Amino acid sequence: MSSRRPAFTCTACGATHSKWSGRCDACGAWNTIAEEAPLAAPARGRRIALTGLASTEPPLPRSLSGIAELDRVLGGGLVPASAILVGGDPGIGKSTLLLQAAAAFAAGGQPAVYVSGEEATAQIRMRAQRLGLTDAPLQLATETSLRDILATLEAERPALAVIDSIQTMWSDAVDSAPGSVSQVRAAAHELTSFAKRRGTAVVLVGHVTKEGQIAGPRVVEHMVDTVLYFEGERGHQFRILRAVKNRFGPADEIGVFEMTGRGLAEVTNPSALFLSERDAATSGSTVFAGIEGTRPLLVEIQALVAPAAPGTARRTVVGWDSGRLAMLLAVLEARCGIPFGPSDVYLNVAGGLRITEPAADLAVAAALVSARQDIPLPRDAVVFGEVSLSGALRPAPQTDARLREAAKLGFAQAFTPPGARGNDLAIHPVADLAAFMDKCFGPIER
Ligand code: TYD
Ligand code: MG
Repeated sequence: MSSRRPAFTCTACGATHSKWSGRCDACGAWNTIAEEAPLAAPARGRRIALTGLASTEPPLPRSLSGIAELDRVLGGGLVPASAILVGGDPGIGKSTLLLQAAAAFAAGGQPAVYVSGEEATAQIRMRAQRLGLTDAPLQLATETSLRDILATLEAERPALAVIDSIQTMWSDAVDSAPGSVSQVRAAAHELTSFAKRRGTAVVLVGHVTKEGQIAGPRVVEHMVDTVLYFEGERGHQFRILRAVKNRFGPADEIGVFEMTGRGLAEVTNPSALFLSERDAATSGSTVFAGIEGTRPLLVEIQALVAPAAPGTARRTVVGWDSGRLAMLLAVLEARCGIPFGPSDVYLNVAGGLRITEPAADLAVAAALVSARQDIPLPRDAVVFGEVSLSGALRPAPQTDARLREAAKLGFAQAFTPPGARGNDLAIHPVADLAAFMDKCFGPIER
């Protein structure tokens, strides 16, 4: 039993072979056969204790970071012994955010450590000065050796440790370059086990990489408890921190920040911010009453429709799904008889926000047709509702919260699927896309 021969397995179909070959006999794929290490003789396992679902343990204690937008995205504060990944494009502001958060945490009396593998401590101090954080008792280090970092954290046992970034960390247990998939995985694994073992909340910063020369944060998403992405458009000062996975709170929650000369400032009324740059009533612009996480958010949707030379029509989308745009254009053509075929179509969600809600469909359709017809929508109107392939409109969840936010920001009317009730604004219920277009734009030449 003990002398087991190595097995060869096809990674495409799973068939096992007794020897290596270039092509799998079972599925015909080339270069898919890999050797698997022989299994060790089975040893007896230890019996593990099983428990029930009912628990008498108190709810998880949470510590507030002191930055309300961050605490909300975390689901109500930082959970001890949790591992959090903060991903984002280089230069978006991850280091700034986490330096501010760690300093706020330390200032609140909880020991915090910030380890950078990218910047010298003098550089971090300079940034802290610019952010007005020099009084916070935050502990800094510049280091990339995982072994030394873990030894230090074991000795210090801080409540919070920030590792900036996971791609610069280097574990001597793995024989490959820093930033490679196996290094990033090994470093994340060791740091998350440290978090569980010692009760420290560990934040890993991960750069999103386009070319894939270094491993992106995706390879560690499954190992951590919470995944936050820091998003925003270069050239815009707005930054969105979005929870895409959270074992301790709702996913899809967002926090809104503004990058200023003195670091990231919290935005407590994001709707006002996202609408602040709106010009006078222009065609192609609508206001979508959306929900991000648990919070209503009004955003401007802008469209431009321009004639294109035959066969060169473009579709350019920023902040929305281009597949969804193609679907809406098809519905507009098939169900309302409004073709966009030979035109260039540009769609933009103002402020650098990314919208994923289907309820934005109607606002996008309205912006597109308004741009095509060069007829502005009423400036005091908000629009929302999901468009189905038949052209029918489906009600959006949390309609009341959307309408309340719109009324709060001074909007007086709303175009929505039937069933909405608003006390403070005039509701125009519309059952399908064609009815909506008639109501807003009158007869359209097709
Ligand atoms: P940084 O936090 O270094 O980004 P990341 O860690 O995600 O790579 O942020 C870099 C950008 O932020 C940089 O282009 C300058 C800008 N910034 C400000 O505008 N104001 C500030 O107070 C700070 C510290 C940075
Ligand atoms: Mg950085």
